[in-house]
Amino acid sequence: MPEKIKLVIVGVEQAVLDKQLALFSDLDASHCKVICSKAIDEKLDLRLLDSKTILVINLTQNGLKELIFLETLTTKKVAIILVGDQSDTDLLSQALRLGVKDFIDSKAYQDKFVSVIEATKKHIMSGEISRENKRLNVFVNAKGGSGTSFIASNVAYLLANEAKLKVALLDLNLQFGSIGLNFDKNPQYSFMELLRSLNELDAYSIEAYITKYDQNLRLVLPLLSEVILPGEVDVKQMLKLLELLKVNYHQIVIDIPRLIDPVSNMVMQQADYIVLVVQQSLVQFRNAKRWVQIMHKDLEIPLDKIVLVINRYDSENSMRISDLKEMVNHNGIYTIVSDSEFVDKSTDIGIPLCLSYPGTKISKDLRLLAAGLSGVDFKEKNNNLFNLFGFF
Ligand SMILES: Nc1ncnc2c1ncn2[C@@H]1O[C@H](COP(=O)(O)OP(=O)(O)OP(=O)(O)O)[C@@H](O)[C@H]1O
Ligand SMILES: [Mg+2]
Repeated sequence: MPEKIKLVIVGVEQAVLDKQLALFSDLDASHCKVICSKAIDEKLDLRLLDSKTILVINLTQNGLKELIFLETLTTKKVAIILVGDQSDTDLLSQALRLGVKDFIDSKAYQDKFVSVIEATKKHIMSGEISRENKRLNVFVNAKGGSGTSFIASNVAYLLANEAKLKVALLDLNLQFGSIGLNFDKNPQYSFMELLRSLNELDAYSIEAYITKYDQNLRLVLPLLSEVILPGEVDVKQMLKLLELLKVNYHQIVIDIPRLIDPVSNMVMQQADYIVLVVQQSLVQFRNAKRWVQIMHKDLEIPLDKIVLVINRYDSENSMRISDLKEMVNHNGIYTIVSDSEFVDKSTDIGIPLCLSYPGTKISKDLRLLAAGLSGVDFKEKNNNLFNLFGFF
């Protein structure tokens, strides 16, 4: 007999808990055991919570404090669903960082509660997406044309097809995005339409708005015909988009423009790694240094979250890896060789290079980067391609 899913509902208002329990009785409860607790703190018996638990927390006015309690659960594989004020950006941001499964607005819970619990139950039963594999990696360049979109596209492709993870690749270069060209895809819906519809969408219905590339890879792209002006994208809506994507995707890869604004700041704050792509020139190294300073000093991003990639790397060039190492104080520096012939060919046909020319040196370099960023034991198809010397 399949193991039971445990549903734990936590909240201080008895009337709300009663309503939720009543809604829940409409579900197929045969595989569920419901526990109701009033304590949103350490009094909640953690021994009750395991990988078969759905924990619903009705946040109060002290939502942020209550989320601190969640930190004690991060090592556990509990599916957490929050019910709270979705317009509170701090709350949403903290929830996303903690990897909650879903965040339902307290005003809308009557409509969404059942479908969210059902879907979460399905996820748990099918042994899908555990929180340990989740990563959000952001790519940005030190100067236009450094190769960021090309690298982000191939890393996303590798994570989806060789690490076999569910990947969402977002192009936030909303005016001159080029990710679609690398996959020969143009989306059906406009990016702004997607953002505007978010309040009515959940982690499952959002799939209709995003572009399928293959079984594991989805693309969130601006339409070629779409003109989005700076400042038009609402940070709260972007946060909500990331929150929804995190439910269904292991890895989120985001290509952002070289611009510091509220949206890119929020995205960088959410990132596990920020990948800064540079080439070996004085201007690029100088820009990279400025980026690292801004990220670290002004945006308070820890240095170990910043990964440097030297694209079109040439070991004979006088601009050396050690110069970059000084900026970040760690060894997280990768190199990608130049290969115009195969890169241009793959771009012309709109197929990622790692699919069209998997045996090339550039493809091997990209594989090492993808493996390092994903945090997953990245099984190479061809073991002899793997060498650790790409990571200095
Ligand atoms: N290692 C490489 N070898 C050869 N060509 C490359 C390499 N990396 C990128 N390119 C090519 O260089 C061009 C610029 O790359 P890409 O558009 O990815 O840069 P970017 O940093 O995203 O630029 P933008 O500032 O426009 O966003 C593309 O045609 C790409 O295919
Ligand atoms: Mg680009």
